[in-house]
Amino acid sequence: MEDEKEIENEVNGSEIFKEFREYSVVEFFKKNRQMLGFAGKVRSLTTIVHEYTTNSLDACEEAHILPEMMIKVEDLPDGHVKVTIQDNGPGIPQSHLGKAMGMMLAGTKFHRYMQQRGQQGIGGAGCTLFSQITTGKATKMRSGLGDGKVYECEMKIDVKNNQPLITNQSEFMGNFRGLRVEAEFAEVKYDKSEHGVYEYLKRTAMANPHAQITLIEPTGEKHVFQRVSDKIPEKPTEIQPHPLGVTTGDLIDIAHRTDSRKLSSFLSNTFSRMSSAKVEELAKLVPTVNFEKSPKDLKWPEAEAIVNSVKTLKWIAPPTDALRPIGSDQIDKALKNILAPEFVSVSERKPKVFRGGIPFMVEAAIAYGGNSGRAKADESKGGDIIRYANRVPLMFDGGSCAITEAVKNIDWKRYDIKDFDNAPVSVFTNFVSVHVPYTGTGKQAITMEDEIVEEIRYAIMEVARDLQVYLRGKVREMDKETKKKIIMRYVKELSMDLADLAGEGAPADIEKKLANLVENKYEKIEGDAEEAGKVEGVKEDEENEKEE
Ligand SMILES: Nc1ncnc2c1ncn2[C@@H]1O[C@H](COP(=O)(O)OP(=O)(O)O)[C@@H](O)[C@H]1O
Ligand SMILES: [Mg+2]
Repeated sequence: MEDEKEIENEVNGSEIFKEFREYSVVEFFKKNRQMLGFAGKVRSLTTIVHEYTTNSLDACEEAHILPEMMIKVEDLPDGHVKVTIQDNGPGIPQSHLGKAMGMMLAGTKFHRYMQQRGQQGIGGAGCTLFSQITTGKATKMRSGLGDGKVYECEMKIDVKNNQPLITNQSEFMGNFRGLRVEAEFAEVKYDKSEHGVYEYLKRTAMANPHAQITLIEPTGEKHVFQRVSDKIPEKPTEIQPHPLGVTTGDLIDIAHRTDSRKLSSFLSNTFSRMSSAKVEELAKLVPTVNFEKSPKDLKWPEAEAIVNSVKTLKWIAPPTDALRPIGSDQIDKALKNILAPEFVSVSERKPKVFRGGIPFMVEAAIAYGGNSGRAKADESKGGDIIRYANRVPLMFDGGSCAITEAVKNIDWKRYDIKDFDNAPVSVFTNFVSVHVPYTGTGKQAITMEDEIVEEIRYAIMEVARDLQVYLRGKVREMDKETKKKIIMRYVKELSMDLADLAGEGAPADIEKKLANLVENKYEKIEGDAEEAGKVEGVKEDEENEKEE
């Protein structure tokens, strides 16, 4: 009887699956907006500004334009926040504006393996969506290609179908070139904390000295981060992936998209360092896979076997010429401009490789004094870790980032910084790679892989050493000054006594002579001390550690 009762209550499978339907990527992100960085009021606003500014910088770089951006944040009476962003970039043609800003995963260049800030094609449309779901409003856009025509429209997203909904279109004659976006948001807040928009743009300016960035705060206060370099970063180039950096999933994706007709030619055409001799070697290792077949028919187990065999072969390291660092002279200029520090040093290091096949490069700098360091509640300064991936500031999730880990692993006392958390220093680190291994979809932290953490550590140690030399010099200078003051105090007394004893010569003359004597001696002492400092030197920590 018990059993029968249960059978009565059972629900039929087709009943359950009545509710089952496909849903669009926009619906997914509407539910999981934290995955786009829309979590917390301050963070959400920073994310919005981040998405628009990275797009502007990318577009200007590609079009070889010196970027000029204006970002305005206004508090509206109803509690909404209005964000206006305008750039002088290439603009977006009318035919593409809908896809770029009103459709997810559609308007991007995701398939290109090159070093760009945007990689996913959800940033722009993500903001359009966030505005619409928090305020019900459409985003206003103006685009000009510099051909005398200006296009304007308002845009929402059809959430169910992942399609742009464009209204109020107009076109008129004008000189405007670039993109202007005006959107309203709720559930966001402007503040000046270290996670806020001001700090984000300041950091953006530090890593992009070629950009002119104007911020107008809700109070009406205007901040201009001045361009200090007219050097437009070199256009990023597309590169071929290295076989060792490819996962099974990647291999299948690329194989199914290719125009190559045979698996063998696909492999040699797609990957760097994959000569036809290498393909033959590989074919011998996986005899079960037919290298003559179409790459479109590549199955998971076959791709997996290929990826596993790739790992057993010897490969030439990947080419590194596609990496686009900021450059030490540019970083130096930018930090001096924004932090007005007492001392700056920038590292110069060679590219490295992680996971055997992905080239990367670390740029590190240290700034001391002036406006360096993080302002603390009591207005004193503490050590500040300024993190970037391909020039984009990483503002959140610092605790799980390879850069923070590297800074923590440094024995700062060794560099005469007694307590990093209470020192007026800023440590600037830019991780440069075509593939940045982020820890999550928020793209705010770099995974702590050993090779990465180590390289970052060495780069920072390099500049920490320079700071140490500077600080030691400063201490010596202070010691000298104190001693000199004490001696000089006696000079006056001594010269009067001497004049008295000898019964001739004016005390003032003797004082002058004595003072000169002391000055000259000091110059010599100073020279000697400097020499001694050099001989004592600061050892090459990295080399030492490797020997240990
Ligand atoms: N300010 C802009 N100027 C020119 N093109 C832009 C601008 N903003 C966005 N785009 C275009 O729209 C596309 C989609 O942007 P987005 O959704 O943020 O994706 P992603 O930045 O990942 O490529 C960009 O790839 C670019 O082609
Ligand atoms: Mg983007």
